Amino acid sequence: MRFRDRVVIITGASRGIGKAAAFRFAEEGAKVVVAARTETTGIVPGTIYETVEEIKQKGGEALAVKVDVGIKQDIDNMAKQAVEHFGRIDVLVNNAAAFPSKPYTKFPDPDEEEWDRLMNINLKGYYLCTFAVIPFMKAQGKGKIVNISSDAVFSADPYRVHYLTTKMGQIGFTRGMARELAEYGININAVTPGFTAVERSLKTFPKEMEDRIVGGQAIKRREQASDLAGPILFLASDDADFITGQTLNVNGGQNYI
Ligand SMILES: NC(=O)c1ccc[n+]([C@@H]2O[C@H](COP(=O)([O-])OP(=O)(O)OC[C@H]3O[C@@H](n4cnc5c(N)ncnc54)[C@H](OP(=O)(O)O)[C@@H]3O)[C@@H](O)[C@H]2O)c1
Repeated sequence: MRFRDRVVIITGASRGIGKAAAFRFAEEGAKVVVAARTETTGIVPGTIYETVEEIKQKGGEALAVKVDVGIKQDIDNMAKQAVEHFGRIDVLVNNAAAFPSKPYTKFPDPDEEEWDRLMNINLKGYYLCTFAVIPFMKAQGKGKIVNISSDAVFSADPYRVHYLTTKMGQIGFTRGMARELAEYGININAVTPGFTAVERSLKTFPKEMEDRIVGGQAIKRREQASDLAGPILFLASDDADFITGQTLNVNGGQNYI
């Protein structure tokens, strides 16, 4: 129970990697703020309400908060709700992302709207969420921030230059912020997943590309969302108190930093 009574915010926790991490934090005693845009209000698959319901059914504590990480007001409300309901914020996992609208096609030249959409969610979103929690972590003298980037930045897959730019930017943000936050007892690190089998990626990744990636891994099986939970929890735990500004590459040995 490494996270007993700790409060963890995870953006993009209605599906995929964020949801898997939310479950694991709850299992380890955390009170989890499950955040995403979720349009509906019902307990429907792929929503924050479903994640929260599943956590509660297993005896955990969680709160659903509707947030678009492209909107500062939503983000400030997310931090406020976390503190109002659970009294503190110990961990932020910046995970919600925007993805290319036409994956694996040459980037249209120029498509400012598409470029801005990814920059806004993946860079400004991480920055705004981070700054929304800093005052609470500072007041506590301790906090952990984990930024989910991508191992695609190390192999520079073709035809998604805007996505790669944001994902590399998240690593730069992590390193820069580590220098700013250490004096307040706040650690900030990045995790770079490899190709991970979630509903969205299975729909958008061409099968031959997936086979090539898995074939190039040292561990020759598909990466699952649950494979990321352990590394995320480690970086969010007291065991990582002397680690900051780092990137943990979690991809079955597909590429190396
Ligand atoms: N899966 C992979 O192969 C892979 C590989 C490398 C890195 N990653 C990284 O891992 C992270 C999670 O990816 P995933 O594959 O688990 O994604 P996913 O299954 O598509 O889930 C994305 C999550 O983000 C939420 N979201 C999207 N836009 C949002 C916004 N503007 N505001 C708030 N929430 C938003 C979605 O919910 P709503 O749509 O309801 O808002 C959903 O909960 C991302 O940072 C991604 O870049 C994934």
